Amino acid sequence: MSSTTIRPVTKEDEAKWREYWAAYNEFYKRTISEEVTATTFSRFLDDNVQMFCAVAEDESSRQIIGFATWFPHMSTSKINGVVYLNDLFVDPNIRSKGVGGKLIDHVYDHAKNVLGAESVYWLTQHFNHRAQLLYVKKATKSDFVHYSKNL
Ligand code: ACO
Ligand code: ACO
Repeated sequence: MSSTTIRPVTKEDEAKWREYWAAYNEFYKRTISEEVTATTFSRFLDDNVQMFCAVAEDESSRQIIGFATWFPHMSTSKINGVVYLNDLFVDPNIRSKGVGGKLIDHVYDHAKNVLGAESVYWLTQHFNHRAQLLYVKKATKSDFVHYSKNL
């Protein structure tokens, strides 16, 4: 595989991003409405909204091969913010070649050097062993249990 560039998503990437977004939602066995999908994509391009998306692009084919999304928020235990890595996806045909790790490194770099955040965190399903093969190399597994409630 040739080199991979990680760069901010652009309007021209929307069709490919939507394709991977659909595959990612299938992976999570969830349905996301068109209204939410369109709103989320527009937020990535809106300079007034701190929600970010980067895509991985194969340098020789110029094809998009993955994406990551993230956003900052405040914390009661830190002066500076923290960043939540919301989504990570790599084309199934190009996995285990370092692209996921590069996307995470890009989020670290943006979080630290652009957003001035003190840490990056994320969640994954306890049975997502493939992702955790990468995560154990990139971060520390926390002791916390995750709860949520629909309102
Ligand atoms: N034994 C040991 N290590 C292994 C094995 C194995 N059998 N297979 C892979 N690995 C390691 C690789 O060595 C590699 O580490 P290295 O870079 O140090 O060599 C690591 O696992 C995989 O790293 P990458 O190649 O950088 O990751 P990849 O490009 O495959 O992307 C991802 C990982 C994003 C999880 C991808 O598998 C994917 O899209 N999965 C489906 C969606 C998903 O699970 N997304 C994450 C949800 S959690 C979230 O979004 C915050
Ligand atoms: N067996 C079964 N149930 C029990 C038992 C027991 N031995 N002891 C308590 N419970 C139940 C109670 O019945 C009650 O449920 P109920 O309201 O249905 O009767 C429940 O446990 C306790 O609920 P509350 O009385 O509403 O909670 P409390 O006022 O005790 O506050 C808290 C809970 C905040 C976790 C407190 O124990 C605390 O401050 N702990 C230390 C700090 C901490 O752990 N904070 C949470 C960290 S995570 C976070 O901050 C997001």
